[in-house]
Amino acid sequence: EEIEKGGYDHFMLKEIYEQPRAIMDTYRGRLLAGQSLIKMAGVDQHLEKILNANRIIIVACGTSWHAGLVAEYIFEDLARIPVEVEYASEFRYRNPVITENDVLIAISQSGETADTLAAIKLAKEKGAFVFGVCNVVGSSIARETHAGAYTHAGPEIGVASTKAFTTQITVLTLLALKLAKEKGHFSTSRFHEYLTELETIPAKVEKALEANPLVEIIADVYKDSTNCLYLGRGYNFPVALEGALKLKEISYIHAEGYPAAEMKHGPIALIDEQMPVIVIATNKGHYEKVVSNIQEIKSRKGKIIAIVTQGDTQVRELADHVIEVPETFESLTPLLTTIPLQLLSYHIAVMRGCNVDQPRNLAKSVTVE
Ligand code: G6P
Repeated sequence: EEIEKGGYDHFMLKEIYEQPRAIMDTYRGRLLAGQSLIKMAGVDQHLEKILNANRIIIVACGTSWHAGLVAEYIFEDLARIPVEVEYASEFRYRNPVITENDVLIAISQSGETADTLAAIKLAKEKGAFVFGVCNVVGSSIARETHAGAYTHAGPEIGVASTKAFTTQITVLTLLALKLAKEKGHFSTSRFHEYLTELETIPAKVEKALEANPLVEIIADVYKDSTNCLYLGRGYNFPVALEGALKLKEISYIHAEGYPAAEMKHGPIALIDEQMPVIVIATNKGHYEKVVSNIQEIKSRKGKIIAIVTQGDTQVRELADHVIEVPETFESLTPLLTTIPLQLLSYHIAVMRGCNVDQPRNLAKSVTVE
């Protein structure tokens, strides 16, 4: 096992550090920037069906569900296709309206999650086209779907999902970009810009990982917290959810993710000097609005840990701690902002003496309903 960990203390840390490589493996052979082309066999064979979908329904559980939420933003924003994201475990219990004109995307690292499989079976019965995004080759979900795209992240051993999440987002981004182009929402030059930017992401993830020593110092300050709030807006709202899930899973600290603007409808009541609030405040999208959310937290004496774009000065003046990530297109920021949140959970869990790779009560893949 020590050999498999490749010198890292835990599989989770190894897998966090594998992300630049894993993301590259995900787009290798698919993203052809030189030819301004995205090639995905499972999509190319069914292009008409997917392009003509009335809507896309995404089903998944856990971290994969969060990747689905990021995909919702990108599919609607870039490809202008209506998207619904459902917990696979709820989907079949509410008599959902599904037609032959719907495309269902099932996201699953393991490809074995029982609820996700059951949602796929229901959608197939109703005549929908089902597309799978799995990591494990030949898994049940990969076999049950009409077509799909593997994430090629390599084996993920740590129960808390890390590289599976960022590679799922990568595959779904490729799919969204391809559909956006086919639907005529992108000029050739804009499309090319996107592909080129996507190719810079592995190096930017590498850069984001350089914050590790700083994240460790911050983890030491907050390791004894009993609660934690994660806030983000737009593309980074699902990242806030994922950050909170990661902390809960491995450190057993109660954490909640919230859309930053929704804070005033509830969580703001929890904020006091004991409450660390992790705010994703990158410079694109709704930056000024997030800054005013940060001011609201500060005036209630909450402790602010902000994830900002490199070179940020405005948030730095307000926050107790800032962690920088490189600049990229707004739609690609989740691939970077996720990194410090993974590291923060990891260090807090280690400092609390938790079993990081095998947290209590959790399983890597849940094959029962
Ligand atoms: C379990 C794992 C999570 C994972 C979820 C969905 O709860 O502990 O890490 O996100 O299942 O798994 P899947 O394999 O379908 O992505």
